[in-house]
Amino acid sequence: MPLMRIVHYPEPVLLAVGKPVAEEDLGPKMQAVVDDMFETMREAEGVGLAAPQVGISKRFFVMDVPEEGRPNPLVLINPEILRVEGEQLGDEGCLSFPGLYQTVKRDMRVIVKAQDVSGAERELDLTGLAARCVLHETDHCDGIVFLDRMTPLKRELAKRKIKRLQKTGKWE
Ligand code: NI
Repeated sequence: MPLMRIVHYPEPVLLAVGKPVAEEDLGPKMQAVVDDMFETMREAEGVGLAAPQVGISKRFFVMDVPEEGRPNPLVLINPEILRVEGEQLGDEGCLSFPGLYQTVKRDMRVIVKAQDVSGAERELDLTGLAARCVLHETDHCDGIVFLDRMTPLKRELAKRKIKRLQKTGKWE
């Protein structure tokens, strides 16, 4: 299966609000796209990848945050955050920001409703890194990047680092 091109900040698709996934987009065609996204994400050693990051302006993403050492691949289509709880502070990265890691405050627990590839709806209750990932990827679906979630000081530092990386050609 072909790897997809991961778009880098500030490409416009990353900053656009994704369209909801329609019923007719679901099924085998969606499965094929999701399979390619999983492969692209794993090749890039990421734990989450949202559709806008591969140039698709729609509301869905894939993620795989291991649980007790085992893979836990999840597909969330038309995600909707129902409830959040608590707080966590930790370093975050993003495949659309190669080489950039920065501290971001997130909710510790998230209850999210989403459809799977067949259109079935379910609720997931996740904590820690998995919750962080769901929040980060749902943001991508809404055209929000993790830069927007940093404190103003950290955002300035991050922007300066991005400029440096762009000059060295490591960021295109
Ligand atoms: Ni990201």
